[in-house]
Amino acid sequence: MNDALALKTRAARSKGSKSNVKPRRSKALEARETRVSSAASLGVTPGYMSGFGNSFETEALPGALPIGRNSPQICRYGLYAEQLSGSPFTAPRASNERSWLYRIRPSVKHSGRFRKVDIGLWRTAPCQEHDMPIGQLRWGPQPLPKKQQSFIEGMRTMTTGGDAATLAGMGAHVYLATRSMRDEYFYNADGEMLIVPQQGRLRIFTEFGLIEIEPGEIALIPRGVKLKVELADGTARGYMCENYGGAFALPERGPIGANCLANARDFLTPVAAFEDKETPSGLFVKWGGRLFATELSHSPLDVVAWHGNYAPCKYDLRRFSPVGAISFDHPDPSIFTVLTAPSETPGTANVDFVIFPERWAVAENTFRPPWYHMNIMSEFMGLIYGVYDAKPQGFVPGGISLHNCMLPHGPDAEAFERASEADLKPVKLTNTLAFMFETRFPQRVTKYAAELDVLDEDYAQCWQGLKKRFNPRKP
Ligand SMILES: [Fe+2]
Repeated sequence: MNDALALKTRAARSKGSKSNVKPRRSKALEARETRVSSAASLGVTPGYMSGFGNSFETEALPGALPIGRNSPQICRYGLYAEQLSGSPFTAPRASNERSWLYRIRPSVKHSGRFRKVDIGLWRTAPCQEHDMPIGQLRWGPQPLPKKQQSFIEGMRTMTTGGDAATLAGMGAHVYLATRSMRDEYFYNADGEMLIVPQQGRLRIFTEFGLIEIEPGEIALIPRGVKLKVELADGTARGYMCENYGGAFALPERGPIGANCLANARDFLTPVAAFEDKETPSGLFVKWGGRLFATELSHSPLDVVAWHGNYAPCKYDLRRFSPVGAISFDHPDPSIFTVLTAPSETPGTANVDFVIFPERWAVAENTFRPPWYHMNIMSEFMGLIYGVYDAKPQGFVPGGISLHNCMLPHGPDAEAFERASEADLKPVKLTNTLAFMFETRFPQRVTKYAAELDVLDEDYAQCWQGLKKRFNPRKP
């Protein structure tokens, strides 16, 4: 952490449920309940509030948050009130997202005249800059560069799909970071960012508070939220899905019922924290696929209190409660959806974020790895750690595979042989965490990705060993 930072964090006030029913209670019982209630309000995970899409409220200085109104004539502590709208004002209540921020300076003071700057290897859809033939693709892990680069400078786009200007589609990126952001701040006007660390812990200081994540956790940063990223371990590598469309939400559970998969209480939103720091700083904004910069005399992370349902959060993927086959066959991989960003067509996601976590395989008379298939959706996969059961070789942590729209894929020859002959006793798939960004849009490979030396030119060979097993005389 930068010692110069005046990080000020206080306990959050979390919005409790209210009841109109007030049964009679003894004073002693009321006092005990008051104590219990007060302790619970401090939060189970210090520094965070539990829930997904809640209406949160939190303040870093006592009384900073106005009560009963959003925009009083004068805010306490000399703060400015500002609304951040993640949805149109008139969006239906279920998808309406906004927060009220009480800050040292309004955001108009966090921007001056912008100049266009080099965006490096970050690309935005539509982007067709390479004529690579179609095919199943796989990349090995990308090494960290020797050169010093921040989380933003180290962003490398692998694929894009859709069109950011129409608020549809996504970009799939890898970040290779070797230095913390110091007096540099960033926000993304093009999309929401789903950050998936693979190596190295990140300390993401947002306007809304501080989020710390490690490999196995994710962070979700809404469009327009200012931040800086510091590297707790000196370097960091990971994946990032830039969602140009509607915000990620928890998927419907249907017949699964009210529990399992990702549970809302495991999503953690930070309590308010701010910098009151007057040093020359730079603010970078990604807007319309380009990067712009402006100079400031202070930190824009100056939100002392906030309330609302438009806020960043983190989630530990190891808390995902998988549901799967307990007899035969197995469900489609959508059963492992953590978050889904919808499109205007029901059931047709702009992006799904799906994981393949540790779990038991118990199905009987079943080919247990994923089956062979072709898919209208385009699948970008990464491996955070361990071994992926359909590709025991070649798909390694930090690597990527891309199975684009209507391109066939499935277990490699070795995985097929092994799964066909396996003794189907219960097996625990341990130490494994793969994920998928799956989108309705074909994914265009960037020039950077097409020319990477870790691109596996022979990936499709992994299926060449699949033998013809057909014998019409042997049913
Ligand atoms: Fe697939």
